[in-house]
Amino acid sequence: MPEELAIRIENLSITYKVSLEAKRTLKNAVMRASLKQKERTRMIEAVKGLTLDVPHGSVLGIVGSNGAGKSTLMRCIAGILSPTEGRVIVNGKISTLLALGVGFNPALSGRDNIILGGLASGLNMEEIADKTDEIAAFAALPDGFIDLPVRTYSSGMYGRLSFAVAVSMTPDILLLDEALSAGDAAFKEKSFERMRELCAEARTIVIVSHALATVTDLCDTAIWMHKGALVAKGKPQEIVDDYLKFLNVGSLPSNYEDM
Ligand SMILES: Nc1ncnc2c1ncn2[C@@H]1O[C@H](COP(=O)(O)OP(=O)(O)OP(=O)(O)O)[C@@H](O)[C@H]1O
Ligand SMILES: [Mg+2]
Repeated sequence: MPEELAIRIENLSITYKVSLEAKRTLKNAVMRASLKQKERTRMIEAVKGLTLDVPHGSVLGIVGSNGAGKSTLMRCIAGILSPTEGRVIVNGKISTLLALGVGFNPALSGRDNIILGGLASGLNMEEIADKTDEIAAFAALPDGFIDLPVRTYSSGMYGRLSFAVAVSMTPDILLLDEALSAGDAAFKEKSFERMRELCAEARTIVIVSHALATVTDLCDTAIWMHKGALVAKGKPQEIVDDYLKFLNVGSLPSNYEDM
């Protein structure tokens, strides 16, 4: 793919196959006998035929209703999910914050989780030692919490530590799914500052957020997803305005075919 691209998404479709036989109950056993094989699974097309290029150094915002496929797309870019069709090509080291505290071991302290996260990102112990203090300082948890098990954290504390770890790994590509939603106002401001620094360092950032001001403030491009498909791509303010109009009056752009 062209050198200037960080992410190339080609005709990507992701379908989840959900088994309807989750529970082994007597009722289900009787029902199952009457169900044909094909009826025991349900296919959910979470992403449908999406094509998109993300150049290095750009900050892309993704908006769309609940269930639009935003997180599924992010998981596929992160390499956690495989495409059902099409492909995603990524050029650079990725750091993700796709759900708060995922990857944290609840029994270990914040500090030990930072070490684990560092090892998982391929850092050596010396680099980790350098980063630990920096991460702890950024997260600025209440007194002593960095040395307590993370299961004792509030969701805001999880959010602070998760964000601090994700941005400290100096990734080429940073994927953030609702990452700025848990912290308090002061932490949010600090996170925005850090995001602006990362933007200035020409890192590629993809942000999924229902906080539309985050998208208009930080991003240089935005896309709007609806039922797994790309509705529109453009300047963040225009995309957000169209999306808000859709939320208020339910109108999709005329060039969009509801699939
Ligand atoms: N692990 C899964 N197994 C089966 N279906 C899933 C799974 N994760 C998501 N889905 C389905 O895929 C579709 C897209 O979900 P996704 O989580 O990507 O949406 P989203 O845009 O991130 O929504 P939200 O704004 O609520 O976070 C939905 O219909 C959802 O029910
Ligand atoms: Mg989501």
